Amino acid sequence: MDVTGKPQSLRDLAPAYVRAISPYVPGKSIPETARELGLAVDDILKMASNESPLGASPKVIEALQAELGQVHYYPDRFDLTAALSRKLGVAAESLVIGNGSNDVLELAARTFLTPSDSALYSQYGFLVYPLVVQAVGARGIEVPARGYGTDLEAMAQAVRPDTKMVFVANPNNPTGTFNPWSDLRRFVERVPGRVLVVLDEAYGEYLPDALRSPTLSWSAQFPNLVVARTLSKAYGLAGLRLGYAVAHPEVAELMNRVRQPFNVNHLAAVAACAALSDDAFVEKCRAVNAQGLEQLAAGFDRLGLEYIAPHGNFVTVRVKDAPRIYRSLLAQGVIVRPVASYGMPEHLRVTVGLPAQNTRFLQALERALAGA
Ligand SMILES: Cc1ncc(COP(=O)(O)O)c(C=O)c1O
Repeated sequence: MDVTGKPQSLRDLAPAYVRAISPYVPGKSIPETARELGLAVDDILKMASNESPLGASPKVIEALQAELGQVHYYPDRFDLTAALSRKLGVAAESLVIGNGSNDVLELAARTFLTPSDSALYSQYGFLVYPLVVQAVGARGIEVPARGYGTDLEAMAQAVRPDTKMVFVANPNNPTGTFNPWSDLRRFVERVPGRVLVVLDEAYGEYLPDALRSPTLSWSAQFPNLVVARTLSKAYGLAGLRLGYAVAHPEVAELMNRVRQPFNVNHLAAVAACAALSDDAFVEKCRAVNAQGLEQLAAGFDRLGLEYIAPHGNFVTVRVKDAPRIYRSLLAQGVIVRPVASYGMPEHLRVTVGLPAQNTRFLQALERALAGA
């Protein structure tokens, strides 16, 4: 500010903690890549943002088409709340439905954190956690990882008197690591009840049956547990934006006060109801994903590349000169995700595709490694 109280620049109008935010950089889009490289949109293969290679269920497309004439009405969330409540076996009062699970993560921070609080997340954790924490002026504390995964012991020890929230993704993005549920349960038992544990299960649907999440059954015992999930991944609704949290009714009620009344649009709600009714489609996604993970792992083994054992719909592979390999893949029309911003400058993250897409990616990668 100068002496007249006028800001010297518009940036000064924002609090210092907002000015310090590093913007989230999403994976490159197909139209952007087509424009930059002069390629046809149809020739580009995007394996960068953990989207579903199977698209959405035909039931979703049909339901959307039937509702296109209704978009002039404000959305109603009754059917979706009922569908989620039925599907998950939880009370409607425990649900917070968001514009993607990103919205739910942000709502948790906006509802509970103040500049006097701290929140914990793991090194190599999802970058949205520091972002939502910083946006409300709270102190974000990154806890060193163990290998590439969340170190729950270190996280429990890092809880301070001012800590009000802990974010854990299981499986984690961008590393794909997984903490056994029994370890997570012990962690939740250890964390003081005044600390909200936000457990992000965005990739939960991809876990094999033996590892499926039991966390909704923990809610009665741990009122400080907030489980966040999304329909962006296995349900294939990333572009419509639909996520939700299951929390203690008091926690959910507070979060629902803070959210925008119409944060979920009508078509997203309609699509989500249809998606939740199509278990066979999600099963197919899981099977295609499991097969794709094997295909990519076999390809990386053949190319002599190290990769982190995957548990989601992506594999994070060490290619050493990641910027060069990334550019070479891009020039061949294949978009993957650099993860240097996560402190992993030698890795690239690749989303599982259909078999032919995985083959095209592996061939392009082989050419890139050979110096193309
Ligand atoms: C770990 C994790 N959590 C949450 C999200 C947010 O997903 P969405 O906002 O699409 O539901 C993502 C998206 O990639 C993710 O990787």
